[in-house]
Order: sequence, then C-alpha cells, then structure tokens
Amino acid sequence: MNLLTKKPAILVARAIFPETLERLAEHFELETNQDDVIFTPQELAAKLHGKQGLLCTGSGRIDAPLLAQTPSLKMVANMAVGYDNIDLAACTLHQVMASNTPDVLNQTTADFAWALLMATARRITEAEHYLRAGKWDKWSYDAFLGADLHGATLGILGMGRIGQAIARRSIGFEMQVLYHNRSRLSPEQESYANHAQYVSKQELLTRADHLILILPYSASTHHAIGPAELDLMQPTATLVNVARGGIVDDAALIAALRQKKIAAAGLDVFEGEPKLNPDFLTLENVVLTPHIASASAATRRAMANCAADNLIAALTNQQPPNLLNPAVSV
Ligand code: DGY
Repeated sequence: MNLLTKKPAILVARAIFPETLERLAEHFELETNQDDVIFTPQELAAKLHGKQGLLCTGSGRIDAPLLAQTPSLKMVANMAVGYDNIDLAACTLHQVMASNTPDVLNQTTADFAWALLMATARRITEAEHYLRAGKWDKWSYDAFLGADLHGATLGILGMGRIGQAIARRSIGFEMQVLYHNRSRLSPEQESYANHAQYVSKQELLTRADHLILILPYSASTHHAIGPAELDLMQPTATLVNVARGGIVDDAALIAALRQKKIAAAGLDVFEGEPKLNPDFLTLENVVLTPHIASASAATRRAMANCAADNLIAALTNQQPPNLLNPAVSV
C-alpha cells in the first residue's frame, strides 16, 4: 500500500490495453508489464511482493508455492474464462479471491469455432498454401475435395455457454446436433441449441461428422481425446479444439491424422503452448491457429474490462461479479 495515495498496489502481469491501465490507475498503484515479459514463477512471486491484486492471463500459474510467498495478495483476476492456471483450492486456503471472465467471449469464441471448422472441413488454408506456392495451374474436378457442413451431424463435447452458442449457429446449416457433457441441459437449453440431443461420449465420437471440443481442462478431462477416442471417429470426420491444450493427446492426434483415421483437425490450442509438437507442421490436413478464439477487438476489450471490474470490486470491499471461490469473504 502506498501511504501517500492509500491506493492498493496491484500487478498487471501481462501487456494490456492502455485504456484498461488508465482505468485501473484510478483505483490502484500499478506495476505494469507493457513489454510483455513472461515471468518465471520466481519473478512473479517477487513482483507480487506487497501487492494486493493481480491481473493475469492463462500464462500465469497461481498455485500453492506462489501463494505461500505472497501473503499480501487478496485477489487474482484472470483475463480468461478458463482458469485451469489457478489452483482454486490453494487460493481459498490462502484467503485469496479469484475471478474469471465468463460470458463476454461466448459469441466471439463460437464464431471462431465455426471459422476453424469451415477452414478445416473445406481445406481452406491447405488450398491457400497451394495457391501461394504458385502450384495452381488449372481447375480440377477433384482439387481439395472437402466435407460438407450443411446437413451433417455436428458433435459438441462440452455443452456450457460457448457450446450452446456453437450449436445455435448450426441452425442455418440445417445440421443435427449431438452433444455430451457432464450433465444434460434443460429442455429449454437443448431447444435453444438447435434441439441438441444428449448422447454418450462413445456415441458422440462414432456419429459426429464434425466434432468440436469446448470443455474446461482439468485432471478429469486430460487427454479426453486420445488413441481410443480417435479410433472411434469416422475416417471422414473433422475434429476442432477451441478449448484447451491437454484435452487432446497431441501425439495420438498426429498419428491419427497421418494414418487418415480422421480426415482433418482444426486446432487453436496445444499441449505445452506456445510451443507445439513440430510434427503438426508437417501435416497438410490440419489448420493451426495460435489460441485466438476470443481475439476480436471488442471481446478482448470486454475481457480486460471484466477482469478490471472484478479487481476493483474485490479491493473496494464489494463482491466481485465473477468470484470463483465465494468461500473467501470480501
Ligand atoms: C479463455 O478465455 O479461457 C481463453 O482461452 C483465453 O483467450
């Protein structure tokens, strides 16, 4: 705490919109990182010395060893809906509040899931690489034959708010939607989601023409798609992951794509990202993007504002709107 201004001190651990910093500066003493250095756990702990708040992204691991070194910390605001980088139980134990940014990115992420699905099923990036390489010398009846979306069966693994927004978009493509989720949706939610039909994971894998993964990452969803699951899928199927790396066993997926056990994959997230298995780069039947599903200008601003709202509330003795561990009192 700065004694002159009496503003709580916070760390904004990653580069962020200047207007978000201006807003935060009205309430807090800021330490910023506009050079966007990725801190080691030791550097993060040192930077958090004397700080009450932290604004971070999925790249910051907030766990028991870190929290043991940061006794002044009261609030961690994650600028992401996923919070697998935060050990919530450890936060609660240390009386540290944690928040995420739900809802503001649902529609943008659903849009992107469709963009990736369409690019993958219709081989758009593969065809563009071919054209850019100067290889296009004639129209051919069988050039870049892909899979249709219209009238196909769309499978969705993980049917939270983003999954439902993805399903809703399939109405225009006259698709049948199957889904599997921890729990079944209400009849009203299923009807909103293009009358999605709840099926077992096995049935989802075997019947989907296109399968989109949009479930949270945890120990129980680690490698939810591995060799056995890929074996169940159709050789013509498309797999899209806009959830988290680690949900898919990347080595198993590379093998399946090589052996044409499935037709193609569209991936926005990877195990160990931003590094990725270099074998992906050798495959033509994969579309690769660098974790940008929520990256529209408006949505990233909304996420930054949402994280700021949570920090401001928590450190001015109000309930943060997206508090993940309500057992910690404000
Ligand atoms: C999220 O919000 O969890 C995204 O993956 C980060 O963009």
